[in-house]
Amino acid sequence: MAQQDDVFKKIVSHAKEYGFVFQSSEIYDGLSAVYDYGQNGVELKNNIKRYWWEAMTLLHENIVGIDSAIFMHPTIWKASGHVDAFNDPLIDNRDSKKRYRADVLIEEQIAKYDEKINKEVAKARKRFGESFDETMFLQTNGRVAETAAKRNALHERFAEAMNAGNLEELRQIIVDEEIVCPISGTRNWTEVRQFNLMFKTEMGSTADGAMAVYLRPETAQGIFVNYLNVQKTGRMRLPFGIAQIGKAFRNEIVARQFIFRMREFEQMEMQFFVQPGREMEYFAYWKEQRLRWHKALGLGDDKYRYHDHEKLAHYANAATDIEFRMPFGFKEVEGIHSRTDFDLSQHEKFSGKKIQYFDPERNESYTPYVIETSIGVDRMFLSVLCSSYEEQQLEGGDTRVVLHLPEALAPVKCAVMPLVKKDGLPEKAREIVNDLKFDFATHYDEKDSIGKRYRRQDAIGTPFCITVDHQTLEDGTVTLRERDSMQQQRVAVADLHRLIHDRVSLNSLLRKLA
Ligand code: GAP
Repeated sequence: MAQQDDVFKKIVSHAKEYGFVFQSSEIYDGLSAVYDYGQNGVELKNNIKRYWWEAMTLLHENIVGIDSAIFMHPTIWKASGHVDAFNDPLIDNRDSKKRYRADVLIEEQIAKYDEKINKEVAKARKRFGESFDETMFLQTNGRVAETAAKRNALHERFAEAMNAGNLEELRQIIVDEEIVCPISGTRNWTEVRQFNLMFKTEMGSTADGAMAVYLRPETAQGIFVNYLNVQKTGRMRLPFGIAQIGKAFRNEIVARQFIFRMREFEQMEMQFFVQPGREMEYFAYWKEQRLRWHKALGLGDDKYRYHDHEKLAHYANAATDIEFRMPFGFKEVEGIHSRTDFDLSQHEKFSGKKIQYFDPERNESYTPYVIETSIGVDRMFLSVLCSSYEEQQLEGGDTRVVLHLPEALAPVKCAVMPLVKKDGLPEKAREIVNDLKFDFATHYDEKDSIGKRYRRQDAIGTPFCITVDHQTLEDGTVTLRERDSMQQQRVAVADLHRLIHDRVSLNSLLRKLA
């Protein structure tokens, strides 16, 4: 675990050093849990968004996009349940004066039990080698069975307390499990209280009677309140989807792990409207589709798992998370929820407007059911960054840091480098850049030794480096170097476009989904 922590710290500092992610307001000592994307980060982020947007809107004839405003009528948040129920249970430690999420403290305790079990399994696997039977070991090893029983009992008690909104019980679990504050090391806890996560502000001047508005905590409601507009103006017939990418804001109390949990973040959400009774079919469809989208990136199929929700929110009849193995464990990156007709019905009730669909085949009107896919751009960014980072030992004792980014997502696709800054090589290199730049993000680099220039591009994940040398002037060929294998081949300048395009285009990624 300590080793994983070290790797994560290195990834965070690499992200800063190479212009991917900066702490917000850094020169003023930063603003907690708010981050800025730098020159390379914004390109990687835009490529992730494009991959999602095109997978949704180009590959599905029945999905269209919108871009709704961040400010919305405050009653929307009453109807959606956010005003009353978008809360986190908080607890303070009286000695350190630090505030924690009670549910997170308990989840961390469950993770400690899991870690203990995993360590025992790893030890036994080493001892027994090939003949090791994990299922048998988990059932028969006394120490492991005892830890697993404690873990399961805690998990059950926790789920019940959360489901019932029983704050006293949450506190009692913290006390019974002897959980201490990581800062003070004491168990001097306050009561548990609910804390609403929405940011509130005012619209209009106070003299006019300002209206309290919220910064949206999810983009989904902007889709629900535009359901009728899109359905009617787009003459959409069920089933159809509305996709949206945009900022969301939550006053997170436990804001840790870099861009994993932020106060200002971005979501890519799609609401798929279906006939009532067909929602389970589409839930299964989207569950499978979304995992395919993730896996097509080639980050490693073993890095994903589903986490089906056992306890469901009152409006959902099925829910699952796609979790990704981050350096700090498997974590939710995307949620897929079957939200029934809850949201549209609530908006119908609160707005007084009829929000229904006339089904010409059934010759009746009804409220559509909804399957939602909701993914955080920043979490997706983090999963791509973490799984791409490698410190490589090279032959001859040399090392390099390389980002094995999926080529279609890389911020820079190719870098063109004259071997020396004379003899007409820079001019020839510029000529190549001026041709390639219309199709690919292309860098020109003539500073430092060629080795240093390769390392710089490896560190930002550039898939190809093109070196222009004296032979180029004679026969029109260049050296094309691949990031991952570091192999170099001599190719004709005229072939560059085709060779690069075949590998880096979003098109090739999207085709894997078709
Ligand atoms: N409309 C449903 C919804 O908002 P959610 O599980 O609260 O569901 C969906 O959020 C996704 O948004 C999560 O899977 C995660 O990727 C991302 N997300 C949520 N809170 C976040 C935060 N504080 N920082 C970064 N990403 C967040």
